[in-house]
Amino acid sequence: MQGVTVVDHPLVQHKLTIMRDKATSTASFRRLLREISLLLCYEVTRELELTTREIETPMQPMTAPTLEGKKLVFASVLRAGNGLLDGMLDLVPAARVAHVGLYRDHETLEAVEYFFKAPSDLADRLVIVVDPMLATANSAIMAVDKLKERGATNLRFLCLLAAPEGIARFTKAHPDVPVVTASIDEKLNEKGYIVPGLGDAGDRMYGTK
Ligand code: PRP
Ligand code: URA
Repeated sequence: MQGVTVVDHPLVQHKLTIMRDKATSTASFRRLLREISLLLCYEVTRELELTTREIETPMQPMTAPTLEGKKLVFASVLRAGNGLLDGMLDLVPAARVAHVGLYRDHETLEAVEYFFKAPSDLADRLVIVVDPMLATANSAIMAVDKLKERGATNLRFLCLLAAPEGIARFTKAHPDVPVVTASIDEKLNEKGYIVPGLGDAGDRMYGTK
C-alpha cells in the first residue's frame, strides 16, 4: 500500500500478540507498549537525514555521521499516544513534544478536541504523530489537521494497529503523511472498534474500564 509501512519484525509481532491477549494485565500492557515503541521508533526514523561533524576518537580524528536539522517533534494523541511517547523519548531524549488531546464521541465516532500544545516552530521540524490506534481515522486526521494549521509540513503517523478503513481515509485526507504500523487488522466492527484488535488502548493502558 502506497505510503504505508507494516513493521513485521518478529519481536514486534510477538509483543503485539501478548498485548492483544485479554488476559494480559495493565502493567504488562503498558510495559509492552513501551518496548514496542522503541522498535517502531527505529523504523519511523529510518530515513532521517544525516550530516557529518569532525570529532576525535581516542585513536584519531574522524568525520562522523550525526543527525541533520532541528530536533524532532513527537506529537502524542492523548491519552493512549503517551504509551508510545515514553519509549520514543527513551530513544530520542532531545525530541520536542506536542500534546493533542482528543477523544472519540462514542455515538458519532467523531473526534472531539480538548487540548493542544505544541512547539512554536513546527514548520522547521519533522513531526512524528503517535497514537496506538488508527480506527476510523477521525482522530488521526484531526490531529494532523491541527498540526498542519500550526505550520507542520513534514509529518509521519506512527501507530500500533490500523483498520483498513482507517488507512484508506487517512491516506486520502493526508496523502503526504507516511504511516508506519505494526499491523493492519481485518476491519472495524459496528461500534468502530478494530477487530481482532486489542480493545480500547487507553483503557487497557490505564486500567480505566
Ligand atoms: C482511541 C485511540 C485513538 C482513537 C482512534 O482514543 O487512542 O486516539 O481512539 O479511533 P479513531 O481512529 O476512530 O478516531 P480514545 O478516543 O478512545 O481516547 P483515549 O485515548 O482518551 O481513551
Ligand atoms: N480506539 C481504541 O482504543 N480501540 C479501537 O479498537 C478503536 C479505537
